Amino acid sequence: MASPILELRGLVVRYGGITAVKGIDLTVAEGEVVALIGANGAGKSSTLKAITGWTPAADGSIEYRGQSIAGLPGHRLAQQGLIMVPEGRGIFGRMTIEENLLMGAHARQDPPADVLRDMQAQFERFPRLAQRRRQQAGTLSGGEQQMLAMARALMARPALLLLDEPSMGLSPVMVETIFVLIAELAEAGMSLLLVEQNARLALEIASRGVVLESGLVVLEGSGDDLLDHPMVRTAYLGESAVN
Ligand SMILES: Nc1ncnc2c1ncn2[C@@H]1O[C@H](COP(=O)(O)OP(=O)(O)O)[C@@H](O)[C@H]1O
Ligand SMILES: [Mg+2]
Repeated sequence: MASPILELRGLVVRYGGITAVKGIDLTVAEGEVVALIGANGAGKSSTLKAITGWTPAADGSIEYRGQSIAGLPGHRLAQQGLIMVPEGRGIFGRMTIEENLLMGAHARQDPPADVLRDMQAQFERFPRLAQRRRQQAGTLSGGEQQMLAMARALMARPALLLLDEPSMGLSPVMVETIFVLIAELAEAGMSLLLVEQNARLALEIASRGVVLESGLVVLEGSGDDLLDHPMVRTAYLGESAVN
């Protein structure tokens, strides 16, 4: 296996008296897509937020490329290529699409011409965003906002992308578009940690899957093995227990 880009050991996340993540180990290898699945409240978002420091870890270690990243501010993580697209997308609704994209590159120290070239590349990838580049992002549809969130993340030139429920609230056509994009990024060698309620799509695209229940890892394996696993099929793929 390729060397790990991300390694969590014994990660604990607490909110006051609530322990949302209860000591999990999780590894993402260079170039690997790992799907993190689990019911509402299982601790998926808390895990991602602990990685980026939005919610400090109460215990355990978080290593990115072999170095502890505990306590590092977001722009330092961004400079090192660790980027999250948060639950709810986190776009700036009062800013234009262009301004949102430039925010995505704020931590880069490259010449402005390089940043503008990358913005042009995102506009070529997402023509809907190009047409609306000077509109406020809040006027976009949910699917377009998810595209913008992805495009903004790509402006940071991520090496490891954390995606929290990218398909949430999207039409089937938009879900398809987003998953095609995720597959392209994976194909291009980006490492991805993908949190999804849509377990089937996530496991189909992932090389490995990890199942969280009440803050604990209860199952992990290859994407294909998990798609065939009876517990996954009944609990997360909506199949009845009798067949
Ligand atoms: N800011 C918060 N304050 C208090 N409890 C929280 C907070 N965020 C999440 N939780 C709780 O932590 C648990 C895990 O939540 P979360 O990580 O959002 O789960 P998931 O993303 O898997 O749905 C839930 O019980 C949730 O209610
Ligand atoms: Mg969540």
